[in-house]
Amino acid sequence: MWRPPQKIKWKPAPGAWPTREQALASRLFSPLRLGPLELATRTWVPAMVPWRATDDGFVTQDNLDWYARFAAGRPGAIVVEATGIRDVPSGPLLRIGHDRFVPGLRRIVDAVREASGGETKLFLQLIDFLSIRRRPEPTKFLGRHLAITERHRRALGLVDAPEAQVRDALLALPAERLAEALDARELEALRRGARERVTDLELPHIRELPRVLPGLFAAAARRAREAGFDGVELHYAHAYTMASFLSARNTRDDGYGGSRENRVRLPLEVFGRVRAEVGDDYVVGCRFLSEDCIDGGSTLDDSIAFGVAFAQAGMDFLSLSRGGKFEDAKQPAIGAAAYPYTGPSGYECMPAHVSDERGPFGRNFEPSARIRAAIRAAGLSTPVVVAGGVHGFAQAEELLAADRADVVGFARASLADPDWFTKVRSGHGDQVATCIYANYCEALDERHEEVTCQLWDRTALDEPGVRRTKDGKRRLTPPAWAAPSD
Ligand SMILES: Cc1cc2nc3c(=O)[nH]c(=O)nc-3n(C[C@H](O)[C@H](O)[C@H](O)COP(=O)(O)O)c2cc1C
Repeated sequence: MWRPPQKIKWKPAPGAWPTREQALASRLFSPLRLGPLELATRTWVPAMVPWRATDDGFVTQDNLDWYARFAAGRPGAIVVEATGIRDVPSGPLLRIGHDRFVPGLRRIVDAVREASGGETKLFLQLIDFLSIRRRPEPTKFLGRHLAITERHRRALGLVDAPEAQVRDALLALPAERLAEALDARELEALRRGARERVTDLELPHIRELPRVLPGLFAAAARRAREAGFDGVELHYAHAYTMASFLSARNTRDDGYGGSRENRVRLPLEVFGRVRAEVGDDYVVGCRFLSEDCIDGGSTLDDSIAFGVAFAQAGMDFLSLSRGGKFEDAKQPAIGAAAYPYTGPSGYECMPAHVSDERGPFGRNFEPSARIRAAIRAAGLSTPVVVAGGVHGFAQAEELLAADRADVVGFARASLADPDWFTKVRSGHGDQVATCIYANYCEALDERHEEVTCQLWDRTALDEPGVRRTKDGKRRLTPPAWAAPSD
């Protein structure tokens, strides 16, 4: 992962913990209306992919244990990991692109209801993404996969030569000459792996995205409702299709790119179809970026306009993240795919403890508060969820008291200690295991390995019934916590 050059080391500072009475009187542990339903508290576990699904996208026992373990801590809401809306192979990522996925997803709902005594509301994050290939072996790419064009022939002075000779000549070129012979996309495919963009209008399936996606999202939302989820979160953030439509880098010339109005058109159309499919009595919100955090990407002003448009359209909540883009991601190793959290924008998304003067805690607070203020100025009361480095009670309470957010997201803090909520609420905050923001979890995510936390994954490995990672070295969920009898 990329680190700010200042390399200033920060330590989490959760501050004082409330007594049970103070917690019960707090804003954080007070209810909030979210569209047609009520959250028991304003605490939220944002979506986190734990890499526990089967290779064909079905729910496993490990998924059930994972979400039940979070639910035992009784957050107000959990958003289940990014779940693919298409019926296409996507590796061990949950999928909802066909009715056959519904029974497994329903088991997650049942597990969460049971573990939280029915208290925790459950949403499913719906994602679409475009194709990205692994960085190829140069010999295979140049020797086999690259489509040889007139441009290559001219650059090499081999206009009439057989294709095999052109490939041999490309393979023999030094790096800087090769960079001249290939066009920018070919060079990217060689150095980083080919990646589709929403602006590739010459590709029929990309041109057709605005015709195809509303129906796919709507069918997925219908299935989420059938599975018993309390609502869906449309994934309009990070490096994926919908965020790429919103991005200022989207220059599509078909009415779905260029101006802000055009860039937000498809996200609004998707929402419209989803709403029509699931009805007004079902929670539909989205996660989007307060800023793209890349050159030429969307700025806070863009996101303010998008937030107001989503609220006006009738979304039930808006959850704000930032960054997490492919454009500035690190070059992957040969055989690996680029990962959108390895560059400066990735740092903004999941800031780690080695940071700059601003530090890793709360980098998303100010832009989220500005978006929320604009929504309120437009006369709308849509709840805004903020996340990014929250780990202390006072920090969360202050966000709510200062009217900067309505719901507080704890992603890595709840991964470090899923009992954060129940401990703090019951006056046992001093027993919280605080996230150190070392991004051990994020490194596992990058390798598509089962996500765990270094604060607990080697603890009591011999406890009866403990399920372990494939290599047998780590436990998959933290040990249970029992409140001391006081
Ligand atoms: C292992 C891991 C997986 C994640 N997966 C998702 C995801 O599926 N969807 C999403 O919107 N964000 C995802 N995120 C980002 C988090 O939801 C959150 O925005 C980010 O970690 C910052 O919040 P925090 O400081 O509270 O951890 C993931 C984060 C981690 C650490």
